[in-house]
Amino acid sequence: MSRTLWAVSDLHVTFAQNQNTVDALMPQDPGDWLIVAGDVAEKIPDVVRTLSALVKRFDTVIWVPGNHELFNRKTDRVNGKARYRALVGQLRAIGVITPEDPYPIFGGVTICPLFTLYDYSFRPLGLTAKQALAQAKIKLDDELAIAPYVDIPAWCAERVTYTEDRLKATKGPKVLVNHWPLVIEPTHRLFQKDIALWCGTTATRDWAVRFNALMAIHGHLHIPAETRVDGVSHVEVSLGYPFEKHPPHMKRPWPFPVMQIN
Ligand SMILES: [Fe+2]
Repeated sequence: MSRTLWAVSDLHVTFAQNQNTVDALMPQDPGDWLIVAGDVAEKIPDVVRTLSALVKRFDTVIWVPGNHELFNRKTDRVNGKARYRALVGQLRAIGVITPEDPYPIFGGVTICPLFTLYDYSFRPLGLTAKQALAQAKIKLDDELAIAPYVDIPAWCAERVTYTEDRLKATKGPKVLVNHWPLVIEPTHRLFQKDIALWCGTTATRDWAVRFNALMAIHGHLHIPAETRVDGVSHVEVSLGYPFEKHPPHMKRPWPFPVMQIN
């Protein structure tokens, strides 16, 4: 029997319809692995509950945080970077692989869960980040639920340095997994262009080629499409919100089969 590495993201299980979809998510073989590329839910107990159900079904579950996992409410005692550390601790305790763990290997390919955030560098030429944010016609909830608790561009820069060092030290073919796309091109499909500000960093642009990636997996945009950049496929694997409708040509298999081994 062959084993498959599956990938999903943006499960947003607070929607009942999505919870039903996740309840029905089963491996084809007990040896199958599952990547969950962020935005499981906003509350830590919901994230842990969802992933603990999946870790019982799949041989290995790999998670990276999305912006929704990082959302803080005013009443939360743990917020900002501490919130991420709490998530990592609780998920490790139930056996989920996080961006802080050794990279696992599936069929000779190293699967690299990354967490690199964004720094407002996906913006129109000639504008500073401040100007681009001031001009944006729309703002993501991140500005209310994450930005007051941590300096996001500074955290992004730290994450880029940490991740780059780990990738440099990892030999052989890889699959890179990040909630936000590693390249700007997928954001060109956004209906509301200003949202790109919250979608990634230009600092990761050459990573797929430089670090020998067979494929890059991402979520975040809720536009499940494939983007080829410099010969590497960047595949968005989001489930998204139940009310979102995508043109039929963008429909991709879900969960997305990243690779299969015998
Ligand atoms: Fe999402």
